Amino acid sequence: MSTVGSAGRAVDAGFWRERRVLLSGHTGFKGAWLSLWLQSLGARVTGFSDGVPTRPSLYELARVGEGMDSIEGDVRDHEAVAAAVAQTAPEVVIHMAAQSLVRRSFAQPRETYETNVMGAVNVLDAVRLNAAGVRVLVNVTSDKCYENREWEWGYREEEPMGGHDPYSSSKGCAELLTSAMRRSFFSEPDGPRLASARAGNVIGGGDWGEDRLLPDIMRAALADEQVLVRNPNSIRPWQHVLNPLSGYLVLAQALWDSPELAAGWNFGPAEEDARPVGWIVERMGALWPRELRWALDDGPHPHEARYLKLDSSRARSRLGWRPRVGLERTLESIAEWYSALADGADMRAVTLAQIETLSYAAAAP
Ligand SMILES: NC(=O)c1ccc[n+]([C@@H]2O[C@H](COP(=O)([O-])OP(=O)(O)OC[C@H]3O[C@@H](n4cnc5c(N)ncnc54)[C@H](O)[C@@H]3O)[C@@H](O)[C@H]2O)c1
Repeated sequence: MSTVGSAGRAVDAGFWRERRVLLSGHTGFKGAWLSLWLQSLGARVTGFSDGVPTRPSLYELARVGEGMDSIEGDVRDHEAVAAAVAQTAPEVVIHMAAQSLVRRSFAQPRETYETNVMGAVNVLDAVRLNAAGVRVLVNVTSDKCYENREWEWGYREEEPMGGHDPYSSSKGCAELLTSAMRRSFFSEPDGPRLASARAGNVIGGGDWGEDRLLPDIMRAALADEQVLVRNPNSIRPWQHVLNPLSGYLVLAQALWDSPELAAGWNFGPAEEDARPVGWIVERMGALWPRELRWALDDGPHPHEARYLKLDSSRARSRLGWRPRVGLERTLESIAEWYSALADGADMRAVTLAQIETLSYAAAAP
């Protein structure tokens, strides 16, 4: 299966077939989608995670573990991470395990930094110590890694790192340590190529993360309850989960041949896919087959950074990457996914079918 259309560089099934991939965070929302995509491409995937982060989860509903090996371990445990790298002898490592929630980072700042900063150090250092065989290492951070100066225009890869809250700052730290590790240990032309990937506001079927808009909407819709919505006027650059994941795959393919691409990369949506929270809720209400009721949650909220836009010109011009799935199709696919769940469908088949059809979708303009 060759995926992701003709305009620009495609995800190349030939590259991934039989490729040994170590993926941390494989039980999470993005990790489960990426695991299934890699399985469908014929890769030999091993996941490393500390369990399943939510119940229900895409990982369990789509029986993601059936098509891969899994190691249960904590990224904060450097010996466990090193053992996983040594045992699986990966050619490609994609590091996604993280404490991924901004709100939780206010309640658990130390755990957030330990997981997101030292966890990343442990993965990168394990590759440094077991470099033989690892050719590509992609560290997934976030668009929140940038110092948010409340600009209207997009942030470019060389903009300063920062972050107001512990989560965002932990991802800024993860970027800084990636840069230092690259310059210190991963600059040999034949050694591992280390890049980082920045994306945000990722949505799709199967997300049950706390305090995320789409999971909040779909939890309420499935339970026939009213959804409480914070900040309906906040504009966010929404994108289907397959868009950044295609970026990570295309980046890994490109790094394999081109060590000079070892850098930080933005993967953001098309400009017109930045929409207010309230608009998304209304649109989901129109797409959901039953009534969807919502009300304003005007309780006290921790600081939420204003709109941050990514400039993805570098990925477009140098990787040939494009966000394939536009926002309207994204929201339709989410409604379809949770409707299928409510109807008792086989969610592994449903998710694999969405990967097949959406990854062929026409390029967004
Ligand atoms: N979902 C988004 O909108 C979004 C946006 C920007 C960046 N990201 C980043 O993408 C990555 C994946 O995000 P997600 O939405 O799938 O997150 P998620 O919370 O759904 O999954 C997190 C994964 O990390 C694992 N994990 C957490 N702590 C761990 C630990 N100490 N040791 C081992 N494994 C651990 C969990 O088990 C799970 O597999 C994260 O790095 C996240 O910060 C996500």
